[in-house]
Amino acid sequence: MSTNTTSAYSDFHLQFISGEWQTGKDNSTNTNTNPYNGDTLVEIQQATKDQLNEAYDAATQAQEAWAKQTPAERSAVLYKVVNILDQRQEEIVDWLIKESGSTRIKAMVEFGATRAITLEAATFPNRVHGEIRPSNTPGKENFIYREPIGVVAVISPWNFPLHLTQRSIAPALALGNAVVLKPASDTPVTGGLLLAKVFEEAGLPKGLLNVVVGSGSEIGDAIVEHKASSFVSFTGSTSVGKHIGELANGGEHIKQVALELGGNSPFVVLKDADIDQAVKAAVFGKFLHQGQICMAINRIIVENEVYDEFVERFLSHVKTLQVGDPNDQGTAIGPIINEKQVQSLRDKIDEAQKEGAKMLLSGEINGQLVPPHVFTEVTREMDIAYNEIFGPLIGIIRAKNEEDALSIANDSMYGLSSAVFTADMQKGLRFARGIRAGMTHINDIPVNDESNVAFGGEKNSGIGRFNGEWVLEEFTRTHWISMQNEPREYPF
Ligand code: TAP
Repeated sequence: MSTNTTSAYSDFHLQFISGEWQTGKDNSTNTNTNPYNGDTLVEIQQATKDQLNEAYDAATQAQEAWAKQTPAERSAVLYKVVNILDQRQEEIVDWLIKESGSTRIKAMVEFGATRAITLEAATFPNRVHGEIRPSNTPGKENFIYREPIGVVAVISPWNFPLHLTQRSIAPALALGNAVVLKPASDTPVTGGLLLAKVFEEAGLPKGLLNVVVGSGSEIGDAIVEHKASSFVSFTGSTSVGKHIGELANGGEHIKQVALELGGNSPFVVLKDADIDQAVKAAVFGKFLHQGQICMAINRIIVENEVYDEFVERFLSHVKTLQVGDPNDQGTAIGPIINEKQVQSLRDKIDEAQKEGAKMLLSGEINGQLVPPHVFTEVTREMDIAYNEIFGPLIGIIRAKNEEDALSIANDSMYGLSSAVFTADMQKGLRFARGIRAGMTHINDIPVNDESNVAFGGEKNSGIGRFNGEWVLEEFTRTHWISMQNEPREYPF
């Protein structure tokens, strides 16, 4: 589907505000670089708060007319977006590789997820519906309307920039809202500007999607606090998410927030599991995108009887992984997004050793390429187990038995995704239901996302759900309207 007869998009040095491509007016510049080779991809003059206000004004104005368009008209734009994604697949995959350090495998996974949520969102205009409820008051009829929220603020991260942006903006727009989006500073193109080009080409009316490129520490608060939006959809770290939650519901505002935050996914291997299959899953579920996925395996927990066998087979599989150029078909592990993240991984490696974990596999860190590091005899309270890693390092924990494995799995402030391997599905289901997380996969990896199934976490992993009818509810407001058809008797 990737035959591309159109010319590649350009002008990514500009902001997309009010339906116009315009120069940022701030004095600062975002230098967007390729994390593998350091090449400069584009320099973007950042946006000022005045430009942010302009974006909100445009969104507010455009939204009313958009909400009044027929479902078929709104749907048509989303279907057009799907067609354009297909036509430009190679161009998009190329950007994901060079801007976010995605391997080809990861870029294709991300492209597929982006396409799927767009297709799902295209059905929303016709799926959204109200209800009629009975009344205990004689002569009254109760109607529950679902209406667009208005203007939605979206702040997205750099790890799956295209998909994690699109899974908010496509449903929001389909349901009659307008959007002001701030992509992550490491991925302004794949996290925003590229999607703006696609929606523009698809004929989305001007002003409905605004992409404001600026640093979170400079304009982040202003995006959240702006009075034009009553809903903030944030995906990123738990620390920034907590700050956004406080801002959105402090001072003068009470805003609805959807927070998709960090994770610490346990991957549990019970003694009756198919070890070969568990090893294959553990390797992919840990090292896809260098481990920089909120759902990535963060702890491998193995029942004592099969611990040594699992470790041995896991190590021999990990040793085969190719680390290097993400554009190379054979590469499994590409670069880490930036220097700061590389430093945080160096710190974690040092800390794991200091705390007494045994480092069975390591390698030289070369620029932003971090080879896999495997630690055994890890305990639940060690930093590498207790905190989110976001890189190609992993600790393997020994569990005394099934009960102990469950207790370790649940010993976390996070609750996003999780996985358990066992030959006994009933045992797997019992175990899965015992895990405090938004998602658990039996005999599969914790990294799963389907556009029609509830996606999200609990505890410090956030609030709210994406995909299917869950996101449809999230991006609409509920309005009870009653009709009193005959005079009502009042007590006084
Ligand atoms: P963050 O540093 O939290 O950045 C996320 C977004 O927030 C970026 O656009 C960032 O802008 C912006 N931001 C930073 N400070 C802000 C502020 N004060 N106000 C408003 N926005 C602000 O996270 P990250 O480093 O991009 O991503 C890594 C983390 O995200 C990990 O913990 C990971 O688990 C989590 N994550 C979670 C999920 C889900 S689905 N739960 C998915 C992906 C990632 P700048 O880039 O300009 O700083």
